[in-house]
Amino acid sequence: MSDPLAQPLRLPCGTTLGNRLCKAAMTEGLGDSRLRATSRLDQLYGAWSDGGAGLLITGNVMIDHRVLERPGNVAIDPGFAPSVDDTARERLRRWASAGTRAGNALWMQISHAGRQSPRYVTRQPVGPSDVQLDLLGNYARPRALREDEILALVRRFADVAVIARDCGFTGVQVHGAHGYLLSSFLSPVTNRRSDAWGGSLPNRARFLVETVRAVRKAVGADFPVSVKLNSDDFRKGGFSHADCLGVVELLNGEGVDLLEISGGNYEQPRLLGIAGRDVDAVQVRPSTRVREAYFLDYAAAIRRVARMPLMVTGGFRSREGMEAALAGGDTDLIGIARPFCTHPDVARRLLAREIDTLPAFEDRLHLRARGRLSPASPWLLAKMVNVLGAQGWYYQQMERLADGRRVDPRRGMLRSFVRYWWNDLSKAAALRRRE
Ligand SMILES: Cc1cc2nc3c(=O)[nH]c(=O)nc-3n(C[C@H](O)[C@H](O)[C@H](O)COP(=O)(O)O)c2cc1C
Repeated sequence: MSDPLAQPLRLPCGTTLGNRLCKAAMTEGLGDSRLRATSRLDQLYGAWSDGGAGLLITGNVMIDHRVLERPGNVAIDPGFAPSVDDTARERLRRWASAGTRAGNALWMQISHAGRQSPRYVTRQPVGPSDVQLDLLGNYARPRALREDEILALVRRFADVAVIARDCGFTGVQVHGAHGYLLSSFLSPVTNRRSDAWGGSLPNRARFLVETVRAVRKAVGADFPVSVKLNSDDFRKGGFSHADCLGVVELLNGEGVDLLEISGGNYEQPRLLGIAGRDVDAVQVRPSTRVREAYFLDYAAAIRRVARMPLMVTGGFRSREGMEAALAGGDTDLIGIARPFCTHPDVARRLLAREIDTLPAFEDRLHLRARGRLSPASPWLLAKMVNVLGAQGWYYQQMERLADGRRVDPRRGMLRSFVRYWWNDLSKAAALRRRE
């Protein structure tokens, strides 16, 4: 019987993906202090390209050099010349070439961090409204964008997509999930506007829809354009699953080649399978069919309204779970992120039937943190160590791959946590010196 994971997928734009496995976006932190790609990205993506997934999606590439998701981001911002000059473009070309060397697709995820931009990289975050992210005191109050700024950012997304295409990336993904700028416009919690960009769902979705439309127009009909969208923010009063279904309907007419389904944001990091603060949490429905995938039941409902192919990302760790999800018809692609940090060839090994289960370290990481710190720990401390320590752990595995070193799965959580801060703060200092 033919392997369902090995089946090609033809997208509406005419491109065919080689199989049903995708390395989902993971912010690499491997840009330099002028926000340019580096040879470390070439090394990392070369390994991932050889690793067998039909599609690789880059970590978020920022479109605004003043509002980064973290230091170490690559940015493409015409307002900051070093990020778009000849050297920067040549480096993007090398990154794209390494990341496609095995014949797979490589899409650039383009994003604006919005209000989820830490104080140490951004003096003035921006958002739909001035609703501050209340997390560890690490996020300044955002300034509400003016309409002319929103329109300029719509154009910016389109310009960046064209640069990605011209430098050899074979598609783009617009990041409309996880609480970043486009996602924050979708949520009534963060979007309190009363103009054409807030209020009703079509108004809150206007920025995302206009962006996708502008990107599609700019790159042409035959170039893959994807959107990453939350199935739900899992935040009381926030972007709900019903809202998500409405946005999918709005996107149906916009030439989207692949809709990636995720969920949550910094306050509710459900994208990683982690619950946030109880007081404003919306519970995730337990997946009845495939327990390991976080958002599959949501995808079933999305499938009923979506006219574009779907990818579900989050939690997939077994061949059985992936095959059941494809056979059930709720997803066309399987998005996988964390296992690629320790095992860059995980897709090839799945396709070769060398493994049936993906290596997973996240439970071990979180348990360790709980064991050491939770007895008296308030929510913030547990969250800080759990989420940032585990993120740091994955970043450091990617860095090792990027340096051509072996990964270090035995690395401890606390060490990862400390190193994470040290790395990010020193890179942030380098960014400030650049100014
Ligand atoms: C280290 C790390 C970095 C991430 N960076 C991004 C990112 O840049 N853009 C994005 O859309 N999602 C990002 N994610 C979320 C992943 O794409 C994915 O949705 C999540 O990890 C769940 O998939 P998994 O269970 O297979 O890891 C990141 C996740 C991790 C662990």
